[in-house]
Amino acid sequence: MKGGGYYSRRTRGAKDAIDGASGMLMEAVAALPAPNPGQPVRVADFGAADGGTSKKAMHDTVAAIRARFPQSQVVVTYTDLPSNDYSALFKNMLGLAEEPELSYLTKLTGVFVHACGVGFHRQLFPDASLDLGFSATAMHYLSEKPCEITTHVHMVGANGEERAAFARRAEADWINILLARARELRPGGRLVFLNFGIDEQGRYLGHTGEANMFDTYDRLWRALRDEGRITAEEYVRATFAQFYRTKEEFAAPMLPGGIAYQAGLRLLSARTGLVKCPYRRAFEDAKGAMSAKEFAASYVPTLRSWSETVFANALDPARPADERAHIVDDFYRSYEDVVAADPHRHGMDYVHCYLAIEKVG
Ligand SMILES: C[S@@+](CC[C@H](N)C(=O)[O-])C[C@H]1O[C@@H](n2cnc3c(N)ncnc32)[C@H](O)[C@@H]1O
Repeated sequence: MKGGGYYSRRTRGAKDAIDGASGMLMEAVAALPAPNPGQPVRVADFGAADGGTSKKAMHDTVAAIRARFPQSQVVVTYTDLPSNDYSALFKNMLGLAEEPELSYLTKLTGVFVHACGVGFHRQLFPDASLDLGFSATAMHYLSEKPCEITTHVHMVGANGEERAAFARRAEADWINILLARARELRPGGRLVFLNFGIDEQGRYLGHTGEANMFDTYDRLWRALRDEGRITAEEYVRATFAQFYRTKEEFAAPMLPGGIAYQAGLRLLSARTGLVKCPYRRAFEDAKGAMSAKEFAASYVPTLRSWSETVFANALDPARPADERAHIVDDFYRSYEDVVAADPHRHGMDYVHCYLAIEKVG
């Protein structure tokens, strides 16, 4: 993700998806067992980025926990990769960024904020110490790329053995994620996850009926190769380390007899849901008051906020830094041109699978 608070400023749709799941968090809080005397209630946000998009949901969750267990303190741990911008995260927590009124850390007493820079494929908390785990739009990231995808930039466009290698990696990663959470959770503890996925109609992020976002990325990145701007290796190296699972793939390890079921996880609910692209919606709501160029300029930065590192890191590090920056700028400018030329075909609707999970004793 881009740091400096850019992520949450440019990712309104992710915030909308989280706010839409706040009812699931409230249900989870209502069902939590009372903490042991003298113990805090421990909450984790797995893959939190700068904490901006979950700020309102976490504020409401912490307030609900304090209301339900007034004698208990609360510890919220934000986890992400070691490369995450934790400075932006703590500015958000301390109310030094946007929406300071949502800083529960400064508003509520008995609340503590920690951060953990170790990826969620491993166990991050001691056994049976976590009460509530939350994660939004993060667990599609794989622990590693099993291979490069030679004919596309994303697994949604991969075929044959390359697609199968991604599916195998995703299955093993999901099991590791669930088993780690099963060890961390107290009996009665809950998980609320909203993960990118593929829904019953085959829809996924940026592919809900019109232009396919990942096909557009691929076409424009491939064009740079065909024009000789980037090499064949640089084209291939732009492979997202992601996998979009189906509801069935999410549920499988928690079905009776499954490995996560045996570890004590019970799937309470699983459903897919679509959140409309807020930038596209604003363009349509403007009813002609926003030009196609203005829409493109408002929309493409949200794509850039999470995809830029993939394209920038695909470029040969031997190229001078400013040359790499120019190529990436030109790439996103070409995406803006494509959107401006045909704005009504573009948008990044979010498709998630929403999971509520309980740990039994
Ligand atoms: C699209 S952002 C989502 C951020 C926030 N949860 C939201 O919903 O807006 C995905 C986040 O997952 C993080 N991430 C990716 N792989 C991860 C891993 N293995 N462990 C922890 N975080 C990871 C990324 O660094 C990034 O901050």
